[in-house]
Amino acid sequence: MKKNFETELDIALQAASDAGKLTLQYFQTRSLKVETKKDQSPVTLADKNAEKKIREMLTKYFPNDGILGEEFGEVKGKSNRKWIIDPIDGTKSFTHGVPFYGVMIGLEVAGVCSLGVVNFPALGELTYAVKGTGAFCNGQRLHVSDTKLSDGVYLMTDIQHIQKQGQTSLYEALSAQAKFSRTWGDCYGHYLVASGRAEVMHDPVMNPWDCAAVIPIIEEAGGKWCDLLGKPTIYGKGLIATNKTCFADVKKLL
Ligand code: IPD
Ligand code: CA
Ligand code: CA
Repeated sequence: MKKNFETELDIALQAASDAGKLTLQYFQTRSLKVETKKDQSPVTLADKNAEKKIREMLTKYFPNDGILGEEFGEVKGKSNRKWIIDPIDGTKSFTHGVPFYGVMIGLEVAGVCSLGVVNFPALGELTYAVKGTGAFCNGQRLHVSDTKLSDGVYLMTDIQHIQKQGQTSLYEALSAQAKFSRTWGDCYGHYLVASGRAEVMHDPVMNPWDCAAVIPIIEEAGGKWCDLLGKPTIYGKGLIATNKTCFADVKKLL
């Protein structure tokens, strides 16, 4: 018997692997041209071509589903399902030859983030989760830690974004409570929480495509998440992901 979303997971894994291979053709090449978008974030041909590749595959196999991608916007579907794509999350890492970037594909079903794939091609780590079936990396189960924040690691993506978003007091409180803090950010930071190597990840500014794929992975690894207003939405303000132990204390600070 077929498992929940088995075909969807197979196709999403294939699309993220193919797109990941494509990004590697551009990674650490000196000729890579970096453009700046209206929101001041960088984009390259690798981002655009990776998203095209993913969209082609998803459209071929799931023609009734909607698609929302960071670089090419939204195409409404005829079903209650929406694929949400960030072809390269961590473009700043990518353009600087740092391997902590991910190719992300999420599936939202009736508003619920139900499947997520995050491929770290330069690390050879392929992470994924389907709601109710566990989170995995290269076939190995992922679990959050049960470490409390005073013994744990607090991660954030960008201190300037935190300041601009008026989240400095939250940053100060979390970094004061944690054993130490680091900026191992973007999707890699969320993956570190899902794999029990960090306890709290704070992303001050997020779009739905920055969140959709990581949510099922965090949840299925036993973690918790909300936006910066404490709401469980990928359409809100930023994202905080934690292990179970830290969540209540972190939420009190929001
Ligand atoms: C960025 C990451 C980061 C978030 C930024 C995004 P990009 O995405 O998701 O975690 O804080 O707001 O722009 O541009 O590398 O895909
Ligand atoms: Ca992103
Ligand atoms: Ca991106």
